[in-house]
Amino acid sequence: MAQPAAKAAPATPFSSQPHGGGVLLRRPSSPPPPAAALRLGPLFWPWQKVKVGPLSVSPMGFGTWAWGNQLLWGYQESMDSELQECFNLALKNGINLFDTADSYGTGKLNGQSERLLGKFIRECQGPIKSPDDVIIATKFAAYPWRLTSGQFVNACKSSLERLQIDRLGIGQLHWSTANYAPLQERALWDGLVEMYDKGLVRAVGVSNYGPKQLVKIHSYLASRGVPLSSAQVQFSLLSMGDEQMELKTVCDSLGVQLIAYSPLGLGMLTGKYDASNLPNGPRSVLFRQILPGLESLLSCLKSIADRKGKTMSQVAINWCVCKGAIPIPGVKTVRHVEDNLGALGWRLSPDEISELEAAAMECPKKMVQNIFQTA
Ligand SMILES: NC(=O)c1ccc[n+]([C@@H]2O[C@H](COP(=O)([O-])OP(=O)(O)OC[C@H]3O[C@@H](n4cnc5c(N)ncnc54)[C@H](OP(=O)(O)O)[C@@H]3O)[C@@H](O)[C@H]2O)c1
Repeated sequence: MAQPAAKAAPATPFSSQPHGGGVLLRRPSSPPPPAAALRLGPLFWPWQKVKVGPLSVSPMGFGTWAWGNQLLWGYQESMDSELQECFNLALKNGINLFDTADSYGTGKLNGQSERLLGKFIRECQGPIKSPDDVIIATKFAAYPWRLTSGQFVNACKSSLERLQIDRLGIGQLHWSTANYAPLQERALWDGLVEMYDKGLVRAVGVSNYGPKQLVKIHSYLASRGVPLSSAQVQFSLLSMGDEQMELKTVCDSLGVQLIAYSPLGLGMLTGKYDASNLPNGPRSVLFRQILPGLESLLSCLKSIADRKGKTMSQVAINWCVCKGAIPIPGVKTVRHVEDNLGALGWRLSPDEISELEAAAMECPKKMVQNIFQTA
């Protein structure tokens, strides 16, 4: 993916609205930018697709962890029609990447995120001409009972059944077992190879892998003739430590695309929460610890957002894009989709990026890392 330009971006000839309904991103009626401006690289519009292995993917996707999760995200089935609108609106605006997992959905609703995505694909009357137009990136959990490659391939088949599609965009290993069950991991890697060889997945990716483990799986998959296309990790202004930066460098050297999960810090970077206004549910415990130390980062986000006529969420997401990652913010409402679509089509200047990172480094507490994250 293109890196941020060394100079400030030129004024865009495109228009975007930070808020508002309907189709948000409009192609310009004015002529294309001059050649000099083009040399600065893409402005990350949804139609300026990024290569993820063999796939052409929008520079931002949407995450669907909340779709079916009652415990953390307060999901109820009455939300489904709005979720369907979210999906349709995203697709209509050129977003073709949707991240999910076979473990998403709590209790009886396990698998609900994949089931809903499948339903929305089938019922979408918009721009889907071929099933491959929508890139579903699902993650297969490294459950302790998935001990053989065949069991892992069966997990993939179950996801395809829930989604009711013939093949996935990206089949991702949700986490590495290297920290606690290293012997299991080879079987899972072999499972990824088998699902790729059988044509059940168009590309293979990992999640929660650190740089060292990434090099190992990349080399193993390469020895079996399978390219590793993506690596998903928690990556945001609240999760940009040495590990994330080293992972990005390794990804670049191996030709693996970084996918940034929780780019809004679970909602903390949107600016809508503070110590006296916390979300419901378990997120409030984490927010209570971290939010009080975020004052300078949030005020930096706000001042850049105000200056650029953007929202804080749009600035936080655009930072991920400028760092060469594909962010997958989680969305539950049409309003979220509308707002987050406005993160595309422009970019932060190098000075603004430095300002944000300096403010982020001052934060006394960062996001808690995933317990399965490896070195
Ligand atoms: N690989 C992994 O282990 C892993 C782990 C975590 C997540 N993920 C993936 O990454 C995706 C995104 O991460 P995430 O959902 O954890 O966190 P996130 O994207 O940082 O935050 C998402 C939450 O922020 C709020 N929000 C989103 N857009 C907003 C906007 N424009 N204005 C105001 N609020 C907004 C919403 O919650 P509220 O309105 O309730 O605040 C939304 O559910 C997930 O859905 C999932 O697909 C993967």
